[in-house]
Amino acid sequence: MQNLFINIRKAEDKDLSAIKQIEQLCFHSGIWKEENIIYEMKENPVANFWVIEISIDSEEGYRVVGFSDYWETFDSATICQIAIHPYLHHKQLGSALMDEIYNDCYAKKIRFITLEVRVSNTPAINFYKKHGFEIETVKPHYYDNGEDAYYMVLKVK
Ligand SMILES: CC(C)(COP(=O)(O)OP(=O)(O)OC[C@H]1O[C@@H](n2cnc3c(N)ncnc32)[C@H](O)[C@@H]1OP(=O)(O)O)[C@@H](O)C(=O)NCCC(=O)NCCS
Repeated sequence: MQNLFINIRKAEDKDLSAIKQIEQLCFHSGIWKEENIIYEMKENPVANFWVIEISIDSEEGYRVVGFSDYWETFDSATICQIAIHPYLHHKQLGSALMDEIYNDCYAKKIRFITLEVRVSNTPAINFYKKHGFEIETVKPHYYDNGEDAYYMVLKVK
């Protein structure tokens, strides 16, 4: 039986094409332009942009299968994006990333993690609820197409 190795690390230039591909597959046309991704990875001082990579056996190289980006502002954090390659949804990889985000926030004494999610994105809403997030309010017409967002909050403790 083969072992699955998981690694989470800061995103680097070499990850750009994998990130773009996952973003486009997850969000169809994609929501970030390449320059937005580069800004988040390299320039935004409050951003924490990570990738999750897997290897089926340790001799084979790692392959990037997801990413996340969260911003730190004083005692709170905002998850701007989290995505896993669609072939690998519901295999606990998003949870591995979320656990890492939570632990990082805990270590930095961040008190709240917040996010917005489309009200139609049931898998993501379930995912966030499973990680302890609660819906605090609805932000009407938050997205370009007029869709509402749930504003969700998790207390770090
Ligand atoms: C949201 C996302 C990051 C979750 O990552 P994932 O690796 O697929 O999720 P996990 O396997 O860690 O799932 C953890 C929990 O989330 C929920 N969940 C995940 N996928 C789900 C699905 N397709 N339907 C319903 N619930 C789902 C379940 O509660 C699951 O717990 P369970 O395994 O006990 O059933 C992933 O689905 C994704 O990339 N979606 C597209 C991009 C996106 O919408 N990002 C969020 C933008 S706000």
